[in-house]
Amino acid sequence: MTRTLKTRLLRNADRTSIPERLPEAIRLELMGELFLSGNTRTYSPHSDVIEGLADRYNIHLSPVLPFPDLRRFWLPEEAIRRISVSDAEPPVGPLWVHPDTFRKTNLKNRSVLDLHSSEPLDFFPLASQRAVLFHDGRDWRRVKLHLCDVKISRYYRNLGGMTLFHSVQVSRELKEHWLAIREACQEGCRIQPGFYLDEAGVVLKNEKDPDISRVGEWGSLERSLTPIGLPPDLIPMPLFSFYGESTVSGSDAIRPLAVELCEQAGGDPESFLFDTFMAPVIRLWTAIFKTTGIIWEPHGQNVVMLCNPITLMPEGGAFRDPDTALSKTMRDGLGLSSEAFFDRNLHGDESSLEMPEGARSETSRVIDISMGRNTFDYLARLFEQQFGVAPAALQARCRELFARQLPESTRWFPRAVYGYARNPLAEDRNCYPLVVREGMDPAWRP
Ligand SMILES: Nc1ncnc2c1ncn2[C@@H]1O[C@H](COP(=O)(O)OP(=O)(O)OP(=O)(O)O)[C@@H](O)[C@H]1O
Ligand SMILES: [Mg+2]
Repeated sequence: MTRTLKTRLLRNADRTSIPERLPEAIRLELMGELFLSGNTRTYSPHSDVIEGLADRYNIHLSPVLPFPDLRRFWLPEEAIRRISVSDAEPPVGPLWVHPDTFRKTNLKNRSVLDLHSSEPLDFFPLASQRAVLFHDGRDWRRVKLHLCDVKISRYYRNLGGMTLFHSVQVSRELKEHWLAIREACQEGCRIQPGFYLDEAGVVLKNEKDPDISRVGEWGSLERSLTPIGLPPDLIPMPLFSFYGESTVSGSDAIRPLAVELCEQAGGDPESFLFDTFMAPVIRLWTAIFKTTGIIWEPHGQNVVMLCNPITLMPEGGAFRDPDTALSKTMRDGLGLSSEAFFDRNLHGDESSLEMPEGARSETSRVIDISMGRNTFDYLARLFEQQFGVAPAALQARCRELFARQLPESTRWFPRAVYGYARNPLAEDRNCYPLVVREGMDPAWRP
């Protein structure tokens, strides 16, 4: 008898350090996050860069799971700032600290930590390495952590106060507009939409200058365990794990999950790929954009497919990581205030050095580069090789769907394609790269 995909994935998990005692759903999720990303990050010379992180916490160097020593600090109110998506229920969460961060001698504001005890917990890193999953003795939790002066791909992964507050404000906005967003995704779609909220955050104040300066603040974020809008028993698998190769050596051969599932489903591979992965991403992206002006970055790690716990067939598609840009022009048109957001992430129509065509440079970057070149191209190449599907046919379907879901799409997208400048960090170590014109035409959108 042939083994099911799920059985084979679990047998692969047995060959890793994912503990056997974990619930099946968590083992499958960790397989997807940590061991099915082979050849998915080949899109940029930056994507394999990891600097400043101890080898034992680097998920790309055969780490032993779980990681020990996640710290939980209960701190006095005067040492911290808090934010939550819900005004009604002020958050009571602790500050969570990654062990790599805790050991850094240049960690800012650490003296207050030294005055307080903390309980060490085991935890599991996810693909971004700073979002982690763990059981706190009562429940499973997802938390996003500060990594002190650790560079992963293009960015230093410090989780500063402004960014943290911004992520919660975007989450607040999503929660408020959720029904309209779901409505705008439209009926008849097999894959149900959802998103993970960054629900609450705790920031350690800058002890040197707490009232004036927020520079040096850092903190942790609590992320919803399951995406808003989707049933809790589905299994989350990042989109890249559907086109990535297994990195488990000597394992039962597992082909990329999208190929396995397409064969399992039968029918037309082009329609399977479009209906299961591409259309849900486009529907959710356009629904969020036209309802709130939020410009999500739907790359292979920020999109999570929620899968049937028996067949692993995707039933939901959710976005994570609400540290997004926003179109001020769209928000003004919708009559929505933009005051709450980190102004670095707000873009109007005006041109600047960083954003040559304002917000439209950013819609191009996230759709043409992050979604198109860095994600959809991988899916399309895989289905061209495996099933002879023509990438041009998929691109035509995606362009048509964008035009239908966002009727004035030429107003919101530029004619040109923008991507990150090759080496902007030399000038701006702390993160705001320039976008520049790429020498290509848009392929996946009008
Ligand atoms: N296939 C992939 N595509 C994109 N990023 C990937 C992929 N596999 C792993 N990653 C990692 O995911 C992270 C993507 O960066 P991004 O800024 O979206 O996430 P983050 O803010 O660190 O965390 P999170 O998405 O959990 O909130 C990087 O650390 C990158 O190395
Ligand atoms: Mg991310």
